[in-house]
Amino acid sequence: MFVGEKLQQTTVNMEGEPLSALCTPAFVVDVDKVKRNAQQMIEHFEKLGVQLRPHMKTHKTLECADIMTGGSRRCIVVSTLAEACFYADHGFDDILYAYSVPFDKIERCAVLSERLELFQVLLDHPDALEQLKKRPLKDGRLWHVWLKLDCGNGRAGVLHSASEAVRLAQAIAETEGVQLTGVYAHCGNTYNCRGVEQIQTVAQETTSLTLQFVEKLKSVGITCKSSIGSTPSCSHPVKDMSQLSEVHPGNYVFYDVQQSLIGSCSLEDVAVRVLTRVIGHCPHRNQLLIDCGWTGISLDGAGKLPTGFAVIEGHPNLKLVSMTQEHGRVEPMSGPLDYSKFPLGTLLTLIPYHSCATAMMHPVYHVHSEGRLVGKWTPTRGW
Ligand SMILES: Cc1ncc(COP(=O)(O)O)c(C=O)c1O
Repeated sequence: MFVGEKLQQTTVNMEGEPLSALCTPAFVVDVDKVKRNAQQMIEHFEKLGVQLRPHMKTHKTLECADIMTGGSRRCIVVSTLAEACFYADHGFDDILYAYSVPFDKIERCAVLSERLELFQVLLDHPDALEQLKKRPLKDGRLWHVWLKLDCGNGRAGVLHSASEAVRLAQAIAETEGVQLTGVYAHCGNTYNCRGVEQIQTVAQETTSLTLQFVEKLKSVGITCKSSIGSTPSCSHPVKDMSQLSEVHPGNYVFYDVQQSLIGSCSLEDVAVRVLTRVIGHCPHRNQLLIDCGWTGISLDGAGKLPTGFAVIEGHPNLKLVSMTQEHGRVEPMSGPLDYSKFPLGTLLTLIPYHSCATAMMHPVYHVHSEGRLVGKWTPTRGW
């Protein structure tokens, strides 16, 4: 081991130390809030009698996945094949790769389908079905396929009202070696909402359109599952969601400033922070320099907050105005900076605008309980 490696906090055991012992920038996770957020979601859907299939994309760690699945290591969604392999390699099963199945990865999906008890893929185009047909699974196994439906989100998926949608569902159901497992509608359009009423309007719309589509399939003799979700909709579920088979939220385990603005949660519920330190005074610009640039927090959220790229906890008058790779510029929203309050080395705490994007910037998450470090989580990366 190199000396430098020994000194890195990614390898050193810092358990029991305060957060201030960390080198910055550091991504820190409040494990008590993570558990609370996860438990609340479990309870929402136990009450409604709907299967919760949590998405792993926000954190991509084993530890958080264990918390979200209540230790079952079953029934998860992933957004990359790298996540699918990572979880499969660590004993997780019943994995849904909820991304329009990429043609360059069909072989690897086939291998996972042959290896796991249940590996499921998603598609929204007849060409993707042709790709699956070209690679029949061994030992009489079936491709388990979800049809991606666009119920107003406007990203991937066949439009719920298009005749091609029913035709594609029929084609999947009729293809030998392939099973139509369900219909999957992601309501990312809840991210345009402000407040519970608007969130529930979109949740209701997506639920109704998905259930209507499932009924349409029933009328042509096809039965399959249904799944909708997003963190806003699942944080405030509507009654009709009890008629769905599954829901698939993910971000809720961390939440973030964006979710608090949408109305999914309060700022108190946000479980993650980026710690940073003051590394420079710039009185000629009325600014501080901090050691967190876009590699520490991401550029997501640009222009969305009055406080810049993040919320600076405990300092409502401060704004993270701009960043380069390893530097951030902070200035007051009004008045001159009192530099005596921010000597070099001062620790500042950033609440991320979008925790999925911020977590992606960090090779290790420092986990704490009530401000004392209790461990480290290492996420998987890649596609
Ligand atoms: C296809 C899909 N399913 C589920 C989710 C989870 O939604 P959220 O991040 O709002 O919890 C996402 C998030 O982007 C997604 O893209």
